Amino acid sequence: MERVVEIEKFDPESSYEVSLRPNSWEEYIGQDKIKKNLQVFIQAAKKRNEALDHILFFGPPGLGKTTLAYIISSKMEANIKVTTAPMIEKAGDLAAILTNLEEKDILFIDEIHRLSPAVEEILYSAMEDFRLDIIIGSGPAAQTIKIDIPKFTLIGATTRAGMISSPLRDRFGMHFRLQFYSDEELAKIIKIASKKLDIECEKDASLELAKRSRGTPRIALRLLKRIRDFAEVEGKSSIDLDVAKFGLDELGVNELGFDELDVGFLKILLESRGKPLGLNTIAAALSEDEVTIEDVIEPYLLANGYIERTARGRVATAKAYELFKIKNNSLF
Ligand SMILES: Nc1ncnc2c1ncn2[C@@H]1O[C@H](COP(=O)(O)OP(=O)(O)OP(=O)(O)O)[C@@H](O)[C@H]1O
Ligand SMILES: [Mg+2]
Repeated sequence: MERVVEIEKFDPESSYEVSLRPNSWEEYIGQDKIKKNLQVFIQAAKKRNEALDHILFFGPPGLGKTTLAYIISSKMEANIKVTTAPMIEKAGDLAAILTNLEEKDILFIDEIHRLSPAVEEILYSAMEDFRLDIIIGSGPAAQTIKIDIPKFTLIGATTRAGMISSPLRDRFGMHFRLQFYSDEELAKIIKIASKKLDIECEKDASLELAKRSRGTPRIALRLLKRIRDFAEVEGKSSIDLDVAKFGLDELGVNELGFDELDVGFLKILLESRGKPLGLNTIAAALSEDEVTIEDVIEPYLLANGYIERTARGRVATAKAYELFKIKNNSLF
């Protein structure tokens, strides 16, 4: 994961994400249940003039966790401080962040499953009692100092729900799992973004882009940017179905939105002819690390019924076999 997630994070293009990032509920498409719940909790917290309860978001990369954190802070009219778990190396780093917060501030910690145990420990009393218990010195001379901190809201985001310890998980008042987006929802996101990018994207073209975006807004927006380049080079003032299809094929994105990694992954499973394969075996065969497989490749294939995870390993489903038969192995 390090690699893929890091590449996403430090992508020089990611500034476009910031400019295309919705900052209102109206522009935040889909995830209706999460949106509705959050609106209620925000309204209630504001009425009571209290900080919002701590919130944990989980789900695959690019589905809108960070975006939600920003919308929440704007609706709560609260400051937001943003950090990622690997940046908080020592307990003292976290203590410094927490003591600098103001009442009702939002602290957003990305990749929260990567906190070190010592840092996580500090977070427990901070979240529960808004107090820091800091141990100074060691051995018999060690002393605990208690410091009160402002009532803040912690928003944690993670792609790996299973890797969060239960004491940490239990201290979040709200847990939300983000879902993959439907083609229609992605098409709407593409429409709104294309307006911001100042280019018209025709309806069937936006649906075609949506279909090939693996249910993920970040991918949809990336493809839109690339296809806009193809349209501009061809001297078209809008993105139509032809240029969308041409560009997507040029980019090597197939009709299901699978990229090379997805195809490689499925190919390995299909070739095992029903024998379940362990994660480490697949990782070695693909030359990919296990976390990338679990975080980036598998969730979409699982959600769409192409693979199953059994106690003995991963297997391809009938749907996957069918898919490749229909395609006459042309995906290989
Ligand atoms: N519901 C949505 N409606 C419109 N645009 C969205 C939505 N969700 C995400 N996006 C767009 O997709 C981009 C990626 O979303 P975001 O950065 O919030 O994902 P993430 O879940 O935090 O990913 P990661 O796990 O990699 O941190 C955003 O910049 C935003 O423009
Ligand atoms: Mg994020």
